[in-house]
Amino acid sequence: MVRIPEETINHIRSQTNIKDIVERYVDLNKSGQNYFAHCPFHEDRTPSFSVNENKQIFKCFSCGRGGNVYTFIQEIEKLSFVESVFKVAELSQIPVDEALKNAVMEQDSATDTTYGKLLAVHKKAKDLYQHILLHAEVGEEAYDYLQSRGISRELMEEFELGFSPRQRESLGLYLKTQKDLEIDEDLLTQSGIFSEKKPDDDQFKDRFFNRIIFPLNNHTGKTVGFSGRVFQSNDQSGFKTAKYLNSPETQLFNKRKLLFNFDKAKKTIRKSKEAVLFEGYMDVIAGWKAGVQNSIASMGTSLTTEHIQSISSIADTLVIAFDGDNAGLESAKKIAEFLQNQSQLNVEIVRFPHGLDPDDYAKKYGNEALYNIITRGRQTLFQFLKDYYKRQYNLDNEAERIKYIELMIQEISKLSSAVERDLEAKELADEYDVSVETIMNQVQTHLTEHNHQRVRNLHYEQRNKAVLQPTRTNQKKRTKIDVTQEILLNRLFFYPEVEEILDHYTDEFTFATNIYERIYLFYEQFKRTNHDIDDFLNFVEEDELKQVISDIMWITIDVEPTDEEILDYAHYIYEVYPLEQKLQTLTEELNECKRQGNTRRELELTTELIKLNRKLKV
Ligand code: GTP
Ligand code: MN
Repeated sequence: MVRIPEETINHIRSQTNIKDIVERYVDLNKSGQNYFAHCPFHEDRTPSFSVNENKQIFKCFSCGRGGNVYTFIQEIEKLSFVESVFKVAELSQIPVDEALKNAVMEQDSATDTTYGKLLAVHKKAKDLYQHILLHAEVGEEAYDYLQSRGISRELMEEFELGFSPRQRESLGLYLKTQKDLEIDEDLLTQSGIFSEKKPDDDQFKDRFFNRIIFPLNNHTGKTVGFSGRVFQSNDQSGFKTAKYLNSPETQLFNKRKLLFNFDKAKKTIRKSKEAVLFEGYMDVIAGWKAGVQNSIASMGTSLTTEHIQSISSIADTLVIAFDGDNAGLESAKKIAEFLQNQSQLNVEIVRFPHGLDPDDYAKKYGNEALYNIITRGRQTLFQFLKDYYKRQYNLDNEAERIKYIELMIQEISKLSSAVERDLEAKELADEYDVSVETIMNQVQTHLTEHNHQRVRNLHYEQRNKAVLQPTRTNQKKRTKIDVTQEILLNRLFFYPEVEEILDHYTDEFTFATNIYERIYLFYEQFKRTNHDIDDFLNFVEEDELKQVISDIMWITIDVEPTDEEILDYAHYIYEVYPLEQKLQTLTEELNECKRQGNTRRELELTTELIKLNRKLKV
């Protein structure tokens, strides 16, 4: 078994600032000592995620996740510990021994986790489908279809498109020949790319057949599912099937999270701070071809809070480029308004004429025209809504006109710039022959309402922040003994002299709870060779321990420890708490004796309890 030497792991970490790494994934804001952000690991309304640059650790006060730079990379990129070390080295541009890297990665990629195996199965499936599209005779028809839609071979390769043949055993048989993969029925069922096997079938049937395959990748570019498109205008089977068939939800694939092409687009999104959202995969590809490389799509038209979270962690603006038909317009409006209320993302909208979708538009007017309309032909949400409402209401009818004007006043009051509000109010006044004063009065009323709402929300956020304590949410409530032990360990970590105080107290000191005692033993062992506490997390391998250690490290106490303070903790942990425990057991036993009428034992227990209580008093 090849291992990365500990010095290498520690060296890479010490040459890296966790803040610089985290910042590649989330927008950090400094507040006091720490940096804050919305947690990238779950839906997070208030910024509960924090990075402590001094201690080089992160923590989410909401979901409880925490750790050092490797833990962060492991979680966000879904990597093993070893992979995370090389990934951090790469991000920090620290050279590593390539031979070592290859040796370690090779053995690590034969992951025995289900997650790793499922990824391996998807990779094999993707490769097979792609091979069939590009090289096999059965793929020719699909190939020609894609060509006819303007998708060149290079684009097929770029998006790793594929074709699943009509025979529903193709993938199953292929996977059987793959000796480097240990595949069992359970894994195939969990992968979602086979149809459920009936008891008398001897073979799994491929879920996708006779479809063009679009691999669906997670944010790090690993294939986690597929979408298959029919392409013959009249399928020989005679009945109509859905245009697209997707993988079902699996351990890997969650359609609330997945954004098509996000893996390839994120580089450009980070740079431009903008993402362009299309309705269809074909549109994303058309956009890409036209030079819009920050192009993404959700699975259909709904955009979830998880999607918004991913986008807003690297972009400031979302450009909605939906189809020019009525359905596209309605979806765009729904999403834009949702974003206006729920997120900091700025929204802009591209409108395609004559009911065309982006792909049609490029075909009709050329790639350059598509690029131009997306980069320069955008509307603000206000302009978009103005057009939208104009079409909704018959402005020749007085009642409807009034309704329209009132809606527009509401929209004007949502504009953040005073100048813009003023200009739009004037324009509205001119157009419908209403006085500017009346309009501005109304706008003012709405503004006051919004402000009240904002202040209320602010209070809510602050209150939430105040009660956020570093606790592990998925764990039972911490009692006095837990907290005392955590603080004592924290003091030990950051002030080596605390060890001496403990030694003076007793040379037999132990912690009262198993997990803290284990951490203490690890710490003692670690200290023999390393004095940089920041490396401690690399030294421990168990995830559960790491999490607790990270929480302990997170605690910040601004004053130096005194002998008295440390002795207090030690006394409580080593002497008082065990007595308290004993007291509790005896009391329980006593109650039981009373119930059973065992008077002799009752007397014994009472005497013991009196002695115990006396001990506890001193
Ligand atoms: P083309 O029709 O070939 O241009 O493909 P498109 O990707 O542009 O599809 P379309 O505009 O019809 O639909 C937009 C998106 O909605 C698709 O990319 C899919 O994500 C989704 N979608 C469309 N039809 C279906 C369907 O029948 N089933 C499912 N699950 N999703 C669909
Ligand atoms: Mn389309």
